[in-house]
Amino acid sequence: MTQRETTPPRIPVDRAHPLDPPPELAEWRARCPVAPLTYADGHEGWIVTNQEYARQVLSDPRFSSDPRLRHSAVHDVLGDGQPPEEDVPGMFVGMDPPEHTTYRRLLTGELSTRRMREMEPKIAAVAHELVDRMRADGATGADLVTAFAIPLPSRVICDLLGIEYEDWREIQPVSEKMLRIDSTAEEVKECYRIIFEFLGGVVELKRKAPADDLLSGLAHSAELSDVELTSVAFQLFTAGHETTANMFSLGTYTLLTHPEQLAALRESPDMTSGAVEEMLRYLTVIQFGISRGAAADVELGGATVRAGQTVTVSLPAANRDPERFADPDRFDITRVPSGNLAFGFGVHQCVAQQLARAEMRIGFQVLFDRLPELRLAVPAEEVAMREGAIVYGCRELPVTW
Ligand code: HEM
Repeated sequence: MTQRETTPPRIPVDRAHPLDPPPELAEWRARCPVAPLTYADGHEGWIVTNQEYARQVLSDPRFSSDPRLRHSAVHDVLGDGQPPEEDVPGMFVGMDPPEHTTYRRLLTGELSTRRMREMEPKIAAVAHELVDRMRADGATGADLVTAFAIPLPSRVICDLLGIEYEDWREIQPVSEKMLRIDSTAEEVKECYRIIFEFLGGVVELKRKAPADDLLSGLAHSAELSDVELTSVAFQLFTAGHETTANMFSLGTYTLLTHPEQLAALRESPDMTSGAVEEMLRYLTVIQFGISRGAAADVELGGATVRAGQTVTVSLPAANRDPERFADPDRFDITRVPSGNLAFGFGVHQCVAQQLARAEMRIGFQVLFDRLPELRLAVPAEEVAMREGAIVYGCRELPVTW
């Protein structure tokens, strides 16, 4: 493909291998790393597939996160099944500096190194409890997605925000429905509404009876209104749930289908941090990337992105860029980490990446330590993947031990 092609393609979706991004992306990266793209509504924008231009877009203030200025590639793939991006106060993921900076500064203060360190023993305790449950009554098999991958991050977020897990359990079926890729757009919207309402109740409680948790901290600072606070809770909740859950399922699948890597990890558990970094790079679960809208004309990689056009940054393609990573299509847990983009880049880079890394490091350690015989219960090619979902992963992961 060249930049002069008259009918730009849609974002590629079909994979040739479950762990590799669609093959067109590698072709485009090699021949035209800023390539024209057509969005579902006919809008013609761009897709960026290498590290250099991905970083450039994500750190250039002329590329905006405002949802009114960008078309979503995710929307392209999912049609209406994406979360509503309504104009609710406090939705900082869709803001630009300086508005975005205010929320971000408040959150960074609350996600302090101290709080993250305090979370570690709690994460370990939850992981152990979940494995205990998996092994209860002499059971020798489970679906790892429902038994471990979803409940671990879900409980960690409850803990972080200061939500009683017992209260949360009542609403958990709604959260599960929201995460299911076969839910309709209407169902997803309704789930969002119910969760927003639930979190609104939690915020009210935190104003009245603050404790040592993130929401209480924010409520105490009195800088945010109740709706803003609920929005912040909502964004942490939704952004932190599905990403980590799918990293657990897909990461486990990847290790179980790369036995030599798993053996090396079992031999030296201190390699877990490196393994997590490599999983983040190799799997890049936000499979259709993230988008920005150009607020002005911008020259990018020989192309002119016009004001009002959308640029999709393909994080999976950028994380397989051979200019940055030697032999990028090889899963190698001994690779020296060198700045992958799984958590994004620039001002919106994942605000909770320290927590996500700790969850994965501890979760994988407990899982493989407590279940030394862990293996797939079905042939690898029979594991159903979340092909059309915003966050890639396994629909189910039948395992035995
Ligand atoms: C492995 C797990 C995770 C991955 C791969 C991931 C990935 C990302 C990426 C790529 C972005 C940037 C989006 C953009 O620039 O448009 C982001 C932002 C964000 N993430 Fe994560 N994330 C993970 C875990 C979490 C967790 C556990 C939480 C919350 C507890 C969280 C909360 C957020 C929030 C609130 C933002 C928006 C930040 C902003 O707009 O300033 N994420 N994440």
